[in-house]
Amino acid sequence: MSAGRKRGLWGTRFGFYLAAIGSAFGLGNLWRFPYVTVENGGGAFVLLYVLFAICIGLPLLIGELMLGKLSRKSVVQASLSLDEGDGKSFASLAPLPRSKTSWAWIGRFSAFACLLILAYYAVISGWVLHFLMQFFFGHLMSGSYDAENSLRVLRENGWLQILLASVHLLLSLIVVAKGVQEGMEKWVSNAMPVFVVLLIVLVTKSLSLQTAPDALRFLFYPDFTKLTPFSMLHALGHVFFTLSIGIGTMVTFGSYLNEQTHLPSAGFRVTSIDTLISLFAGLLIFPLLAGATPKNVGPELLFQTLPGLLQSLDNGFLFGMAFFICLYLAALGASIGLLESVVANVLDMTGLSRAKATWLTGGAAFLFAIIPALSTSSFRRVKIHGYGLLDILDTVLINGILPLAALGLALAVASKLKPASMEAEFVNDDSIATRKMYKHWCFVMRWAAPTTIMLAFLLAGWGIVRTFLFSGI
Ligand code: PHE
Repeated sequence: MSAGRKRGLWGTRFGFYLAAIGSAFGLGNLWRFPYVTVENGGGAFVLLYVLFAICIGLPLLIGELMLGKLSRKSVVQASLSLDEGDGKSFASLAPLPRSKTSWAWIGRFSAFACLLILAYYAVISGWVLHFLMQFFFGHLMSGSYDAENSLRVLRENGWLQILLASVHLLLSLIVVAKGVQEGMEKWVSNAMPVFVVLLIVLVTKSLSLQTAPDALRFLFYPDFTKLTPFSMLHALGHVFFTLSIGIGTMVTFGSYLNEQTHLPSAGFRVTSIDTLISLFAGLLIFPLLAGATPKNVGPELLFQTLPGLLQSLDNGFLFGMAFFICLYLAALGASIGLLESVVANVLDMTGLSRAKATWLTGGAAFLFAIIPALSTSSFRRVKIHGYGLLDILDTVLINGILPLAALGLALAVASKLKPASMEAEFVNDDSIATRKMYKHWCFVMRWAAPTTIMLAFLLAGWGIVRTFLFSGI
């Protein structure tokens, strides 16, 4: 069986879009976007996020898809090929004297980061399962849902979190073990319509609330004085997280694309739909929150404040259930994408069957999930500057490792892929605009994205120094 056949290809043209959007749209949009936006002061941060999604996220997304499509490999093997060259797409054998830097490490770094993010993600998805069940059974048994108590039970019970994370991982494993077409593609095409309908119903309801104008002002009126030295890195990290870039997911998805797919158009569709859905999530959540002063601005924002508010609406039970089902479908779709990209690496590197590779990866993710799952119980005393282990993990993974991996991949693609191959993927002969866009894309990959990411790190570093200086440590 050829490598391509063993790895699989999308069954239909929509297969890629469904999977890429299913993986891009997840807890990042519904759970993380609202609290990061609150932490960074609202409108100005949203503007920064949208700007970075289009100017930095989109070009990097196209670059990762290109690496996958040209190499037909996942990120670990693809980055090894960048050094080895194949005489066709990769520059090592190209006549031009190109960069001698080895980029083999970036693939391993990205794939490992993907495994860690999968583990962290499984724990938060387990939370969603917990609140979904609490909401449902709470209403069934006593006619209401006690948000505070549900959160307390979860926080104090690390084993419960481990159990929930493993149930979630198991569901993702079952889908991924079936293969690209039968598993991920089929699952997403069934879940996506349900998800979209629920989201539209919820947003319509939210926008009909009296608090909607305040929420819109918070979300769209930019007050730049609210930004902090960390906001730039937070916005970039969140763009990479929500678009699923930096950790090889899009390299894997690109490797399943058929020859005819025009990468810039595919990248544009995925980026614009994902960004729109984030803004939709904001429209859903902020009108509800504007009626309350959240007790906890952080990872718990959504679970503590929102369900209580939802159940106070007319037909609150139905809206609450719709919300949690939406959230869980999003979490599962994204986890399937994360798992698929690690499994594809294992498949490329070993001779294992898909089923074995999937279970092996699931086992490793389970082990890594134990630490975040115990963060609010056994490890609750681990704190840096008032931030708990979960906050620290979130920051290290999403605001640290992810931008670094995205930076490495952008430079690897720009310096090692053969210019002629990149141009052929990018430029569509019928459109002069794509030729101009290609030049801009090269500029962003080589200069604009690396400089922006470095600047964001510098600013955040300055922010840390300033915090310590002012707190007198
Ligand atoms: N994009 C997903 C979200 O927003 C998370 C994710 C990251 C999924 C990386 C796959 C790869 O929730």
